[in-house]
Amino acid sequence: MEQKRIAGQKAAEYIRDGMILGLGTGSTAYYMIKEVGKLVQSGMNLKAVATSKSTESLAKELYIPLVQIDEINRIDLCIDGVDEIDKHFNAIKGGGGALFREKIVADFADEVIWIMHESKLVDNIGAFPLPIEVLPYGHTQVIEKLKEYSFSPTIRRKGGNIFITDNGNYIVDLHIGKPMDVNDIYNKVNGIIGVLETGLFINSCKRIIVGTDSGTKIIENCD
Ligand code: 5RP
Repeated sequence: MEQKRIAGQKAAEYIRDGMILGLGTGSTAYYMIKEVGKLVQSGMNLKAVATSKSTESLAKELYIPLVQIDEINRIDLCIDGVDEIDKHFNAIKGGGGALFREKIVADFADEVIWIMHESKLVDNIGAFPLPIEVLPYGHTQVIEKLKEYSFSPTIRRKGGNIFITDNGNYIVDLHIGKPMDVNDIYNKVNGIIGVLETGLFINSCKRIIVGTDSGTKIIENCD
């Protein structure tokens, strides 16, 4: 918890007056969003796009001015959490089911920072199940195709019911294990009709901020 908090707070130091922010989703992003709330209260002129309905509610509670993604022509900085990341900055996201909006916002942003506690930094991603967002229509056929690739797909459930994303779709979690050929999996999964997006983010952040027991560690992506 403490590691997440310091990572979230550190990331807020990159926020500048006048920015349009992309606000991530999850328990680490929570601490960053609280900091954004403080910056707004202190008079900083900020606007933000939320990557999920839960982030939108939190931002409203904190009086952070929100804009819709379709109303703006830029996002200056997106700050979000991550489920697993390797040293090539390839990551799995979507543990909270918000991967589709998170990817749209990150892709649109000029700069992306990911924040995490240190257990998220791994040699090879793939131990964490890879979430993909699928259209409800035809999802059974999508799952069969994923089984043919031996991805061990399971449909995500919450409280006994199928989990529904903010976009009205389903999440299928792929239990791939290690080692994971990132590009091969990306191409195979995205090639299946009915798959809307994967939680695989390939080298798409500028820096990561890792909370550790001895403070924050910042790793720049120089690619
Ligand atoms: C939600 C996400 C989150 O960013 C990811 O699951 C990390 O969450 P947390 O900071 O709670 O560990 O991708 O879809």
